[in-house]
Amino acid sequence: MKVWDHGVRWLHWSLVMAVSIAWLSTLGLGIVSLHEPAGYAAFGVVAARLLWGFVGGHYARLSQFVRGPSTTLRYARALTHRQEPRYIGHNPLGGWMVLALLACVAGTAFTGWLYTTDMFWGMAWLDQTHNFLAWTLLVLIALHLVGVVLTSTRHRENLALAMISGQKKPAQGNDVA
Ligand code: HEM
Ligand code: HEM
Repeated sequence: MKVWDHGVRWLHWSLVMAVSIAWLSTLGLGIVSLHEPAGYAAFGVVAARLLWGFVGGHYARLSQFVRGPSTTLRYARALTHRQEPRYIGHNPLGGWMVLALLACVAGTAFTGWLYTTDMFWGMAWLDQTHNFLAWTLLVLIALHLVGVVLTSTRHRENLALAMISGQKKPAQGNDVA
């Protein structure tokens, strides 16, 4: 069944590209001039994704996948007993990870931009915050990938492919549609 609409898929892979370029450009590969444009692009994708979270398709909506603390805790507890249900959209932990990733990208790009302004240029604390957020983002991405691989294995479904095709196995049994 169709789960991820065009908006979700294009914005996801655009965000992956922009964040990858922003990070890679800091590694002395001679593409440092791409750092700021890639960072602004990442910020733009986050803004577009948040907007899409209100006007996009059913599974794109923030209200569909951002669950309260009790549902999220129940899901986390079920996960530790390997009894968690399959979610057709983002699972509750995945939903919070989406928000964390978007917030971290936005924060990293915002502090990067702030650092380039006349008012804040040369402020060590801002440089440190930008660096800290960039590294936090890397940790979140690693956890995100672990989550994708574990969930794919648990439910025998290639979720990365689903982020390309938009298609997932239809809901059955205890699945949460
Ligand atoms: C820079 C690295 C990455 C960032 C910042 C990132 C960010 C995100 C975000 C924000 C979402 C939510 C999608 C939405 O609802 O719009 C998401 C979902 C997802 N991402 Fe990534 N992602 C990254 C890398 C990857 C990579 C490399 C893969 C593939 C292996 C991947 C696979 C997925 C999948 C499968 C989902 C859907 C998860 C689910 O089924 O609930 N991501 N990612
Ligand atoms: C997702 C977006 C971004 C990521 C992941 C990111 C990541 C990083 C990282 C890892 C560094 C450290 C490089 C080092 O210490 O050698 C850095 C430095 C820097 N970034 Fe970003 N950045 C992003 C967005 C931006 C944006 C939008 C701007 C400005 C418009 C910006 C401006 C800067 C500047 C000026 C530095 C150098 C600071 C210094 O002199 O120490 N960044 N960025």
